[in-house]
Amino acid sequence: MKIRKATKKDLKRIAEIMRTEFGKPPFKEKASLSAILKSLNFYMKIGKIYIASIKEKIVGIIVFKEEQFWEGPVILIEDLAVDERFKKQGIGKDLMDFVETYAKKKKAKFIGFITHKKTSAVKFYQKFGYKLKKSAVIMKKELK
Ligand SMILES: CC(C)(COP(=O)(O)OP(=O)(O)OC[C@H]1O[C@@H](n2cnc3c(N)ncnc32)[C@H](O)[C@@H]1OP(=O)(O)O)[C@@H](O)C(=O)NCCC(=O)NCCS
Repeated sequence: MKIRKATKKDLKRIAEIMRTEFGKPPFKEKASLSAILKSLNFYMKIGKIYIASIKEKIVGIIVFKEEQFWEGPVILIEDLAVDERFKKQGIGKDLMDFVETYAKKKKAKFIGFITHKKTSAVKFYQKFGYKLKKSAVIMKKELK
């Protein structure tokens, strides 16, 4: 398994993995491939997209960005997904190890992200020392 930076050519396969994985419960996202591609093109510019591959086949992806908070640089993960056929083989862990090494090199103060309250991935993250932030709440206003 290799981890490398994504290129423009990889984006379609990345979008397919994301659409499949985040189309499942509890996320049930219904975005089109073109909407996901538009978002990925944005993160190619303002963030980082890395892929895990086995024999040149993309099997996992991580999207993150660096921000500058008052406490210093921080890393925010936008998306992490592993192709169903390759789950439970350590690929997700390797992608998390990769982002942690990256964050340490950048002297980031923390790695954070928002995810669905009901995803079983919470247990996955807890294995690596991530904790639920009970003081935080997400607020949103839908615009028509
Ligand atoms: C969450 C996800 C990335 C995990 O990827 P993975 O490659 O299967 O994970 P790994 O094989 O590296 O697992 C590492 C450890 O976490 C555990 N783990 C993995 N997924 C788990 C889950 N859903 N619930 C509980 N534990 C889990 C594994 O058993 C393993 O434990 P071990 O080291 O004690 O054996 C993958 O299931 C996925 O893509 N899910 C759909 C999208 C998603 O939920 N993304 C995260 C939210 S943004």
